Amino acid sequence: MKQIAPHGGKLVNQVADVREKDEILANIQGLVRITLSEREISDLEMIAVGAFSPLTGFMCKEDYDGVLDSQRLANGLPWTIPVTLSVTKSKADELSTGKRAALVNESDEVLAVIDIADKYSIDKQKEALKVYGTDDEAHPGVTYLYKMNDMLVGGEITLVKRTPYNDFTEHRLDPAQTRKLFAEKGWKRIVGFQTRNPIHRAHEYIQKCALEIVDALLLHPLVGATKKDDIPADVRMKCYKLVLDGYFPKDRTALVVLPAAMRYAGPKEAIFHAIIRKNYGCTHFIVGRDHAGIGNYYGSFDAHYIFDEFDPEEIGITPLFFDYTFFCKKCGQMASYKTCSHGADDHISLSGTKVRQMLSEGKVPPPEFSRPEVAAYLIESYKKKDTFQI
Ligand code: ADX
Repeated sequence: MKQIAPHGGKLVNQVADVREKDEILANIQGLVRITLSEREISDLEMIAVGAFSPLTGFMCKEDYDGVLDSQRLANGLPWTIPVTLSVTKSKADELSTGKRAALVNESDEVLAVIDIADKYSIDKQKEALKVYGTDDEAHPGVTYLYKMNDMLVGGEITLVKRTPYNDFTEHRLDPAQTRKLFAEKGWKRIVGFQTRNPIHRAHEYIQKCALEIVDALLLHPLVGATKKDDIPADVRMKCYKLVLDGYFPKDRTALVVLPAAMRYAGPKEAIFHAIIRKNYGCTHFIVGRDHAGIGNYYGSFDAHYIFDEFDPEEIGITPLFFDYTFFCKKCGQMASYKTCSHGADDHISLSGTKVRQMLSEGKVPPPEFSRPEVAAYLIESYKKKDTFQI
């Protein structure tokens, strides 16, 4: 059985080899420099390592319009989230199509070059409504969008310097590396799990239901930028390890971080998340209740319905949909509205806000909601960190 093909058929690699890098850096003087935001640096690296295959650079207008108008790239492949590089009008005036520019970080270090193929203006309200389904500036995806510069620059990138991360180092695998890992382990069917929260029993339950029908679980928490009141990645990672070590067979799981930024685009982001996991070599992808959602902007299962707008073969990876899951006192086990006939009074489930409130007050969430060692660790972390907000 062959491994699942990346989106578009080929795993993109836009990381310069030693020779290319020397050549690029030797000619860097005199290039216009574009300073990237944290999100843009994350997108740059995701493009370079093939996590966003088939993208080889920041989107040109044809792709951008296709994504907004028909959920497809210009070549017809499904794609639901713009991956763009924004610049001010005056910076755009300095840039010419057909020319190369340097992409730098806040410290002016060169990270990559872009071969500029397009310059175009952004219609923020259109993007907000098409991608997030709202132009409410309180939505964190819209907040970010409205703060972006007014012009977009598209073109292929070549990465010369990667962020030298010193956290989660053993869990930082690129798509080519996860694919190699899966092959070495002999895993043919792998389910990917996206998460931006500490692991609770409902997460564990749907992971285990999925694991019953595939060979392995790729627990793939997103550790790029999230909103301020989400629990920090280092705390979450410890929780994932506690649950994997305590409750899962070692030879059937891999814990790998996804250094992408969270968009909170609900259904559109569910498709994006699934395609990314396909690029990492997963054959299946879990989509539960309110995937990548926030507040009341999306219906609880909009992230399921959106898959019906595409031919399953075009998406390639198989979505595994889960209904709302919880612990049922009468059933005496985890269940969902698909498998349990009892009423809400018998169900133990807590909202994220409620849990954060309990933890900050030092109250332990019930074991039916959270594994005790996870709850204890979260309470301890809340005491230490003043960065948590409710
Ligand atoms: S997300 O923004 O990354 O989607 P979260 O980490 O809470 O948030 O969710 C991870 C995955 O678990 C998503 O697919 C989500 O839909 C699913 N999920 C979370 N809680 C539940 C639940 N109680 N029932 C069913 N699915 C859930």
